[in-house]
Amino acid sequence: MQETAGSYAASARETSLHYALQALKGRSLIEPEDFSLGEMEELFLLAEKIEKDEKYLRESCRGKLLATLFFEPSTRTRLSFEAAMLRLGGSFLGFADPGSSSSSKGESLADTIRMAASYADTIVMRNPKEGAALLASRYSSVPVINAGDGGHHHPTQTLTDLLTIKRLLGKTDSLTVGFCGDLKFGRTVHSLAKALARYNDIKMIFISPSELVLPEYIKSILKRQNVDFSERENLEKSMPEFDVLYMTRVQKERFFNEEDYIRLKDTYVLNTDKMSAGKEKLIVLHPLPRVNEISVEVDSDPRAVYFAQAKYGMYVRMALLASILGVV
Ligand code: NCD
Repeated sequence: MQETAGSYAASARETSLHYALQALKGRSLIEPEDFSLGEMEELFLLAEKIEKDEKYLRESCRGKLLATLFFEPSTRTRLSFEAAMLRLGGSFLGFADPGSSSSSKGESLADTIRMAASYADTIVMRNPKEGAALLASRYSSVPVINAGDGGHHHPTQTLTDLLTIKRLLGKTDSLTVGFCGDLKFGRTVHSLAKALARYNDIKMIFISPSELVLPEYIKSILKRQNVDFSERENLEKSMPEFDVLYMTRVQKERFFNEEDYIRLKDTYVLNTDKMSAGKEKLIVLHPLPRVNEISVEVDSDPRAVYFAQAKYGMYVRMALLASILGVV
C-alpha cells in the first residue's frame, strides 16, 4: 500500500501513542493523580481504539496472570477486570470473598500481597480499609491497582467516568458536574472530584444531606486548586445547571448505625419528573450498583448512560492492564 500523508500521520500517532504508554509499564495505580493528564489521555485513546477494533491487542497478554483480590463485594469492577484480562488473552486467579482466603485465618495483608505477587504479574485489590492499596503496593514486587480502599479512592472507576464523559460529550473541560448522594463515604466521588479538579473550567455542585457532605480534605484540595464549587441540599432546583449528573447510592456498609442509614437512604430519587428539568445534552452517570436513587423509568431516557459507562469501564481497564504489563 502506498504511504499517504494520512497513513503516515496515523502510524506516527500510533508510535507516539505506544511510546507514551510505555511509561506506565510496571507502575501501580493507587490514586487518580498517580498518572499525569497526558498519560490518562493516552489511555483513553487506546481504550477507544480497542472499543472500535475488538481484535486490537487481543492476544497481547497471553501467558500473563492477573490476581484479583477482593476483600469487599464487587460485581462490575471485578468482572470488568477479569473480562479485560481474558479479552487480552491473559488469565486471572484470586478470590471474591475474603472468607475463602487466609485473611480469615489472621494472615496480614502484607503477607497475602507478597504471596500473590510471586504468582501473578499484576494485582487488583479491593479492601475495606483506607490506605490498604498503598500499603499493598509497598509490599508488592508487581504493580498494584486499587479497586477501592474503603471510603477513600477508586481510580479505575474514575478512568471509566472520565472516558465516558469524553466519549459522550467530546470533552473533559468547561463542564458543570453535579454529584448527588453519599458524598461522605462515596469513594468514586472523592476520586472523580479530585481528578476533575485538574481539568480547566470545571464547576462542581455537591448535593447531599448535611450528614453526608464531602470530606474536608477533598474540599481543601478543591480550594487549593481554585475549583468553583458549591454545596447544596436540593437536587431538583439544580437540575437545569448540569452537563453531567453523577448519582451515587448511600454506602450502607460504611454506616455505624442502621437507623441513620434508613433515615438517609432515600433522600434523593432521580425520576422522570426531575429529568424533565435537565438539559437536553445532560448525561447521568452512576458507578452502580443502584439501589433506589434512580428510578427504573429513567433508564429509557437517552441521557441515562450508566450502563454504557459500565462497558467503557472494561475498555479502559483493558488499556490499563496492557500498559501496566508493558505489551502496548
Ligand atoms: C462503587 C464502589 O464500589 O465504590 N461501585 C463500583 O465499583 N462500580 C460504588 C458503590 O458501591 O456504590
